[in-house]
Amino acid sequence: MSKRLPVKKDDVFCYDIVFEQDFSNLGKEIANVYDDIKDRKFCIVTDSNVGPLYESKVRDALSNAAGVDCYTFPAGEESKNLSVVQSVYEFLIKEKYTRKDVLIALGGGVVGDLTGFTAATYLRGIDFIQVPTSLLSQVDSSIGGKTGVDFSQYKNMVGAFHMPRLVYTNLSTLNDLPGIQYYAGMGEVLKAGLLKDANFYAWTINHLYEIHDKDFETLEKMVYESCRIKKEIVEKDPYEKGDRALLNLGHTLGHAIEKYKNFELLHGECVALGTVCAAYISWKRGMITDDDYYEVRDMFVPFNLPITIDRIVPEEIVELTKNDKKMSDGHVKFILLDKIGKAVVDHTVTEQEMLDALNEIYFSEEDMKA
Ligand SMILES: NC(=O)c1ccc[n+]([C@@H]2O[C@H](COP(=O)([O-])OP(=O)(O)OC[C@H]3O[C@@H](n4cnc5c(N)ncnc54)[C@H](O)[C@@H]3O)[C@@H](O)[C@H]2O)c1
Ligand SMILES: [Zn+2]
Repeated sequence: MSKRLPVKKDDVFCYDIVFEQDFSNLGKEIANVYDDIKDRKFCIVTDSNVGPLYESKVRDALSNAAGVDCYTFPAGEESKNLSVVQSVYEFLIKEKYTRKDVLIALGGGVVGDLTGFTAATYLRGIDFIQVPTSLLSQVDSSIGGKTGVDFSQYKNMVGAFHMPRLVYTNLSTLNDLPGIQYYAGMGEVLKAGLLKDANFYAWTINHLYEIHDKDFETLEKMVYESCRIKKEIVEKDPYEKGDRALLNLGHTLGHAIEKYKNFELLHGECVALGTVCAAYISWKRGMITDDDYYEVRDMFVPFNLPITIDRIVPEEIVELTKNDKKMSDGHVKFILLDKIGKAVVDHTVTEQEMLDALNEIYFSEEDMKA
């Protein structure tokens, strides 16, 4: 039995996230959204790793459509830029895509963010469907309608809110995902529990072995619950005027580390490091206990996520937080932990607090020799 989670905000947007074991219901789900599928063309946008694995399955689901095309770009964050968006526009123009036609983002967060942004801007906006295939995209980036690309070294600097019409999650694709990418996704799963749901956080930790084994029922619950947490937040605040910022737990310093390391570390790994820093600051402020801090920090380790980092200059990372979009009135918007399962937005975190947190996770070469 497939699971389903509707995401709805008044009549502004409304779409379903469906959780499946294969691609066999994709055609039916698309037909539920469009009763005139035979009059529409669909362009699958994917990357060079994911396309060869699933493009033909997605094509099969669209056998009744007016046409199906596929645009494939090189895998990796380096492709999440305006020149790749431009090449997709050129392809769509050449193939005469109109406002009625639909893009299908088949891949991880890079494909989803880039395809969503292309859909948001091509002909002032056309529809798109998310078919997320990485853990990170299934639990986080495919829902909530944030789309965009990196610009001149600034992460997600150019973008738009554009809601998908459907999110079709085939959990079995996780079996093909390289281990390092799978665990990077766990960074966002642990983040989701920490910021909103202590029971889910505890459940995740208690299911460590099943998660390692990619047990289907465990994955289904884990991805579903992560999406539920995000859904509840984005429904209340779709355009990040308030509480949606809670989803950025671990991201203020996480993004700065990601940029400082020139994207050598994966996004989810940086989120883990950033969350340790946020927990450290919360602990030093007396918001969480010693035990809580050490638990939050140490529980990333069994999920193969880093809690220390070498070769950094903490001051330079703090400097990079100032370029963050989360800045307001000269203060960095920081998400702290009030307790496990409850995050809060804070505008008073000082540079010194961030430096102290970075020094806590900094594991220098001297430490290694000691
Ligand atoms: N829009 C949002 O709300 C939001 C939220 C979080 C992250 N993001 C963005 O998401 C991106 C990271 O997403 P990601 O971690 O999915 O990265 P990604 O899209 O680069 O995918 C990671 C790697 O896994 C490969 N891959 C994906 N699915 C696969 C599968 N089933 N089998 C084999 N290989 C597969 C990809 O080709 C890529 O090499 C970042 O750009 C980040 O900024 C966006
Ligand atoms: Zn993230």
